[in-house]
Amino acid sequence: MKRLESKVAIITGAGSGLGREIAELYALEGAKVVIADMNIQGAEETVQTIKTAGGEALAIQTNVTVEEDVQLMIDTAVEQFGTLDILVNNAGIMDNMYSATTITDDVWDKVLAINTTGVMRATRKALSIFEEKQAGVIVNMASISAVTGGRGGLAYTASKHAVAGMTKNVASHYGPLNIRCNAIAPAAVPTNITNNLVQPDEFGMKQALRGVDMMSRPGTTKEIANIALFLASDESSYVNGAVIQADNGWSAY
Ligand SMILES: NC(=O)c1ccc[n+]([C@@H]2O[C@H](COP(=O)([O-])OP(=O)(O)OC[C@H]3O[C@@H](n4cnc5c(N)ncnc54)[C@H](O)[C@@H]3O)[C@@H](O)[C@H]2O)c1
Repeated sequence: MKRLESKVAIITGAGSGLGREIAELYALEGAKVVIADMNIQGAEETVQTIKTAGGEALAIQTNVTVEEDVQLMIDTAVEQFGTLDILVNNAGIMDNMYSATTITDDVWDKVLAINTTGVMRATRKALSIFEEKQAGVIVNMASISAVTGGRGGLAYTASKHAVAGMTKNVASHYGPLNIRCNAIAPAAVPTNITNNLVQPDEFGMKQALRGVDMMSRPGTTKEIANIALFLASDESSYVNGAVIQADNGWSAY
């Protein structure tokens, strides 16, 4: 029996990087997956790969900062696949490493809107279904910046600390209803998020790079997807409110 047999999962930001890898793995393990991304072309590509491998998936253009989009994303999962079992809040952006003196209101608002408010919106809507079913799993993509102070810019660090807080709050409040919410805190994994980093803030970048030589190696998308699979499956049934650091021991130093 596959580990997510007949489960219905939504993965935000699954048109690229970590979200795409998670979606492909979930589909291989028997889940029907909704690929939600602002970038519909990327989302369609993920769907195509999944279908070619014999899996079930659909793409939906979703901006996680827009309430109507989030409502439609979850309604579509229920209409097309019958229910919702797993929500992976993965969509996110970086902040160009702006520090506390160089951060602009625009960057702050954008990063918080996507990385934090987007997670709240999708969580709120998914919980209305999970409460009724008395079952459901949420996996949040936090970051090592959810548990450390200096590895990202100010806005990114604040946004991901908020994700860790929401993860624990939801786990604590809804655990008794058989609903689990955990987070993954990866260090560095080569994806478009870092490829898209152009002319980062000089001071913020210099400070963030301190200690990077202590990191033994970057992670792979597969290594992160494996954690997301564990957290979505019944194998992690007693794990709730955890923020799992995935950094080969970097932050343990
Ligand atoms: N790659 C890393 O090193 C790393 C480390 C720690 C945490 N993370 C987190 O992992 C998550 C995925 O990042 P990635 O590395 O795969 O990056 P990525 O850029 O490859 O993928 C992010 C995806 O999110 C989508 N997206 C962005 N804004 C969106 C919005 N408003 N609504 C819907 N979709 C949106 C993008 O279109 C893209 O497809 C992010 O939350 C990121 O903060 C990544």
